[in-house]
Amino acid sequence: MIALRADNISHRYQGKPVLQGIDLEIAAGESFAIVGHNGAGKSTLLRLLAFLERPTAGEVVALVSGARTPADLALRRRIVMVMQRPFLFSTSVLTNVAYGMRVRGASRREARERAHRALEMVGLSSLADRAARTLSGGEAQLVNLARALAVEPEVLLLDEVTSHLDPDNEARAEAVITKLTASGRVTVIVVTQDLDQATRLAGRGALLRRGRVEAVGEVRGLRQTRRG
Ligand SMILES: Nc1ncnc2c1ncn2[C@@H]1O[C@H](COP(=O)(O)OP(=O)(O)OP(=O)(O)O)[C@@H](O)[C@H]1O
Ligand SMILES: [Mg+2]
Repeated sequence: MIALRADNISHRYQGKPVLQGIDLEIAAGESFAIVGHNGAGKSTLLRLLAFLERPTAGEVVALVSGARTPADLALRRRIVMVMQRPFLFSTSVLTNVAYGMRVRGASRREARERAHRALEMVGLSSLADRAARTLSGGEAQLVNLARALAVEPEVLLLDEVTSHLDPDNEARAEAVITKLTASGRVTVIVVTQDLDQATRLAGRGALLRRGRVEAVGEVRGLRQTRRG
């Protein structure tokens, strides 16, 4: 299992500081929430924790069974981030969901089988053969989630993955995520605007404000800080 640590990371875009002096530890198998206002730096922090970008200063460290491990391709393939804005290829829904497994070397048949199972988990089996570009916003968001689940990652980073979902689909997506977190085998980091959702999905979390960690700890405690 994989733990992640942000060691004093800062990040700038075109010289503008977006994250400053972030120290965080997310234990292996933990579910952790990141909350904060628009532009606080949540998505940026998630991309850094997913090793999709390198911080301008400081570093993100991956620990496997407690030992520091280089973030090489093999490690990065065990980590999957679901982006805030779904990016789907102009192919069928099933091919989109199977993509991550194909990249990781699964056979076509195995990838298709697991893709079908992942679509079933999010309640979209009936859309497997649809052209992905014809999906509604909420459907695209669920396919985006299914694609990540299908890979069975060891670290799953979710960036506001229920923001376009109706209450039923939100509850379904949360149930899928909760099942994963309850297994204790996956390290899950969720970004959300919704402290109630953070409480349902995570034990601990961090409150980001203008690129800094304002508070870290039990999600329940963050609510007080955000109000105050
Ligand atoms: N590639 C980029 N180039 C320049 N600025 C960027 C880039 N990505 C993000 N930013 C800026 O960094 C800041 C933090 O962005 P980020 O997307 O991390 O915020 P967020 O907390 O996820 O916001 P939201 O709740 O709206 O999704 C914003 O001011 C944003 O405009
Ligand atoms: Mg964001």
